[in-house]
Amino acid sequence: MTQDLAILGYLGRALSFELSAVQQYLSLAKLLDLRGMPQAGEKFRHEAQEEMQHAERIIGRMLALNAAPNASSIRPVRLNGSLPELMKHAAELEAEIVTFYDQAVRYCSRTQDHENRIFFETLLREEQQHAAEIEVWRQQIETGHTTESN
Ligand SMILES: [Fe+2]
Ligand SMILES: [Fe+2]
Repeated sequence: MTQDLAILGYLGRALSFELSAVQQYLSLAKLLDLRGMPQAGEKFRHEAQEEMQHAERIIGRMLALNAAPNASSIRPVRLNGSLPELMKHAAELEAEIVTFYDQAVRYCSRTQDHENRIFFETLLREEQQHAAEIEVWRQQIETGHTTESN
C-alpha cells in the first residue's frame, strides 16, 4: 500500500498519456487504412496495442495500491497532415511520454521508492524504444525508403 499521493498522481497522469496514445494511434491506423496506406496503418495499430498493454499495467498497479483508475484528460486526436507530419506528431507524443516517465523515475529515486521506481523504469525503457522505432520509421518515410510515403 502506498501513502504517497504523488505516486497516485503520477499513475493517473501515466494512464491519461497511455489512453491518449491508444486513441491517437488507433485513429491513425484507421485513417491510414482509409488513405490506402495499410502497412502504415498496421504499424500504428501495433503501437496502439502496446500502449493499451501499458494502460492495463498501470490500471493493475493502481488497483494493487487500492486506488481507482482515474485518467482524467484524454487528449483530442491530431489527424491533420501528410504521413511525415503525422509521424512527427507521433514522435512528439512519445518524446513527451519519455520525459514524463523520466520525471516519475527521478521522483521515486529521490523518495527511495524502489518498487515504483522499477515500475516506471520499465515503462520508460519501453517508451524510449517506441520513440526510437518511430524516429527510424519517420526518417525512412522522409528519405523515401518505404513504399507508403504520402
Ligand atoms: Fe505506452
Ligand atoms: Fe509509446
